Amino acid sequence: MWGGRFAEGPAAVMREINASIPFDKRLWRQDIAGSIAHVRMQAAQGIIAADDAAAIEQGLRTIEAEYEANGVPERIELEDIHMVTESRLAELIGPTAGRLHTARSRNDQVATDFRLWVRDAIDAVDAGLKALQVALVTRAAEHADSVMPGFTHLQVAQPVTLGHHLMAYYEMIRRDRSRFADARVRMNECPLGAAALAGTGFPIDRSATAAALGFDKPTDNSLDSVSDRDFALDYLMSATQVALHLSRLAEEFIIWASQPYGFVKLSDAWSTGSSIMPQKRNPDAAELVRGHAGRIVGAMTSLVITMKGLPLAYSKDMQDDKPPVFEAHDLLGLAIAAMTGMIESVSFQVPRLRQVAEVGFSTATDLADWLVRDAGIPFREAHHITGRAVKLAEEEGVALDMLDLAALKNIDPRIDERVFAALSVDSSVASRKSHGGTAPDQVRARIADARIALELDR
Ligand code: ARG
Repeated sequence: MWGGRFAEGPAAVMREINASIPFDKRLWRQDIAGSIAHVRMQAAQGIIAADDAAAIEQGLRTIEAEYEANGVPERIELEDIHMVTESRLAELIGPTAGRLHTARSRNDQVATDFRLWVRDAIDAVDAGLKALQVALVTRAAEHADSVMPGFTHLQVAQPVTLGHHLMAYYEMIRRDRSRFADARVRMNECPLGAAALAGTGFPIDRSATAAALGFDKPTDNSLDSVSDRDFALDYLMSATQVALHLSRLAEEFIIWASQPYGFVKLSDAWSTGSSIMPQKRNPDAAELVRGHAGRIVGAMTSLVITMKGLPLAYSKDMQDDKPPVFEAHDLLGLAIAAMTGMIESVSFQVPRLRQVAEVGFSTATDLADWLVRDAGIPFREAHHITGRAVKLAEEEGVALDMLDLAALKNIDPRIDERVFAALSVDSSVASRKSHGGTAPDQVRARIADARIALELDR
């Protein structure tokens, strides 16, 4: 490609280290779309003749069909997807192919291709996240009244409803989708026409290429255009946040599926057996979601570190931007789909969830609140009285609402029989009606909002 000045070809290792075709061939659709937008603009602006443009476009369509049918040939001597395509174009239509690269550079070309790819990737992730939300909302609706222990410090804290717990993840995914949507808006400016770094002297129409490729506008600084990878970082950081949320949910499933908890039974389709221990049902998919999160964070870190020392404008280090994004995207797609499948099929062990909520003195706060509300006792004192009641229940090995009234009155004479209504896990959750609280009515209201947001209901 630069034979004019170079007498010798590159060393074999140089060829290998320089080549990005093994991975950037994944950009082929975007590369052809970008070239077609460019060549049409070249013709409209009189930069190349209309019949040359037509020949180039037709050649590009042929190559598109070839790639579609047979994949992209991995010709590492041609370095990257841009050169592989251009060289195939020259084979097909001869020297006219050389006119396509007028008024552009691979620097703005790759920046454009990659933005287009990431934009599609965001749309794919968003669809997956929406499906995950639908699964969460559906299971939450089934369990709006199912009582389970709520935890802080992984200690039983207060009873909550399983629907409420699942809807917490709905909220996380809602923020994740909005983060990706923000990133998509921000990245939707077209770098094509920035050329190598300084713009071009040819009379190009950047608005036309931007519009043809579905961008809102052309980028405003040519140096920034070819050196910017914020869009890829935005993608990776948004992906990291999703991975983090999925990993937390996966971790809960792993804990919940273990025998001492027994909160869930994973379906056959989403667990594996052991080759040696017949009793096993392992939560491998959840463990891999948790594991993949680490690799996604690694991909994000990798690109941050690649970019952090680079002066303006383009440096070849930036060729390494693609593998982490591709890897993160593939892992994320799998993780979202696996999590969705697990949620759809998991069987929640409702009696066990209730049992653990009951044995953990999870209604102790309700006793304290009752003492405040119905016996007029200051909260601090009520907390102390409740502590003594819990101690007694612990000693007797019974739930709080199984203590007898005489024993409670012995702790504090202001307690009367009305207290028992407050001590059951059902009355505890039903009482927490504050906005966003765990009361079944609140959970159902939030599910109704979510179903409208997800366009499941109008
Ligand atoms: N394969 C290169 C990349 O992915 C394309 C840009 C090459 N530009 C250059 N000046 N060498 O970044």
